[in-house]
Amino acid sequence: MEPKTYFIRTYGCQMNELDTEIMAGQLEKRGLIPSLKEENADLLIFNTCSIRDLAERKVMGKLGRIGRGQKNHAIIGVTGCMAMAKKDALFRKFPHLDFVMGTNNITELGAIVDEVLYTKRPVFKTDDHFEENLDYLVAKRDNKMKAHVSIIRGCDKFCTYCVVPYTRGQEVSRPPESILEECRRLVDAGYKEITLLGQNVNSYGKDKPEWNCLFHDLLYQIDKIPGMQRIRFMTSHPIDITVELMQAIRDLPSLCEFVHFPIQAGSSRILKKMHRIYTKEQYLEKVGLLREHVPNVSLGTDIIVGFPTETEEEFLETYEVMKQIRYSVAFIYAYSPRKGTPAMRWKDDIPEEVKQDRLQRLLDLQNEIANEERQTLLGQTFEVLVERHNKDGKMLKGRTRCWKKVIFEGGEDLIGTLQQVKVHSYGHQTFIGELASPLNPLSLTSG
Ligand code: 5AD
Ligand code: SF4
Repeated sequence: MEPKTYFIRTYGCQMNELDTEIMAGQLEKRGLIPSLKEENADLLIFNTCSIRDLAERKVMGKLGRIGRGQKNHAIIGVTGCMAMAKKDALFRKFPHLDFVMGTNNITELGAIVDEVLYTKRPVFKTDDHFEENLDYLVAKRDNKMKAHVSIIRGCDKFCTYCVVPYTRGQEVSRPPESILEECRRLVDAGYKEITLLGQNVNSYGKDKPEWNCLFHDLLYQIDKIPGMQRIRFMTSHPIDITVELMQAIRDLPSLCEFVHFPIQAGSSRILKKMHRIYTKEQYLEKVGLLREHVPNVSLGTDIIVGFPTETEEEFLETYEVMKQIRYSVAFIYAYSPRKGTPAMRWKDDIPEEVKQDRLQRLLDLQNEIANEERQTLLGQTFEVLVERHNKDGKMLKGRTRCWKKVIFEGGEDLIGTLQQVKVHSYGHQTFIGELASPLNPLSLTSG
């Protein structure tokens, strides 16, 4: 029976969130409507993540529990990175699954649902390679002011701990015309902020030299779109951050001064073992150069603690580097061995308590740094994209160009606009401020 309603549960990164929007768009084009509750859906999809063991365990637990309590005619599918990592083993473990669809088959969702309906047998599709023929314009976006736009899929870096090159395949850039067309439409539809997405956006265009369009070239073109307010991008591999990109951040009005610049570890020996292809010194040099070009740039990072063989001294190098660089945002993870990655060959020899202790020390340090940074920013005025009411419903909430959360008092009509807000204090990770331009609510000056 043709499904009438769908529900997609999304795990993991922004790329998965975007893939969910693309799948939802395809389903709605077919006439399905969203189900408010997972239990009532005729088609239930788990768009999964494999990046760390915890992410996988969450989904495995969930998949074990569904079936029970689910509508018995519902079609249930698994998509995303776990589909690629576990492939048809998922059917053996969860016999109630109807399909497993890999990250590179996202355009085939409709055909896969048809096959399930007609054959009444489990369907399995996990191609290793992505064909760039996706109709991104179908994406169904719930957010009306911020959008993710995919510019490159896959990753060729093969860091030794990471499953992404195996779950998302080789790097495939999306043609610039297609990206520009989508960005233009988003701006015309009133979007204020576009985040360009890729596992490694800085590799953009390298797989297609004939396009003559590298990442910074693309940014210059997107910035020219009339009405474009804010461009962000993520994620970057430090080795591919070029001077041209730094100049673009300095010169392009819409490009936000925030770079997610994951170091992963502060010890050159560990970086080598991670196959990050830069040393601590080279990384620091890039940060120096970036700060020379864009003195007000904010930096974000990802860090893994407890990588195999990491000594206390090597961990302390990471600690010192964090102290030296002073990131605005840091995502810190305990190493988790992933099947199929080169690091699996090494013993996961750092005890869990040591990993957790190192993780906590970095979290504490980061907290301290972030608080000190906040202190220095008090009294300043920032451009804030007003996104919604905050939890208590009394204040408005938004983010600055450098990704800082701000709350302030204002009318509902400001939601979806850019405002100048002067910050006077901060609570838990959030600035508190007041409108600096109450008489001019549509002011679009940058801050
Ligand atoms: N264990 C822990 N963290 C990992 N990451 C990627 N793979 C692993 C792993 N096996 C982290 C990296 C990456 C972020 C998205 O997840 O820091 O940048
Ligand atoms: Fe994974 Fe490294 Fe590629 Fe990032 S650059 S997705 S960490 S392999």
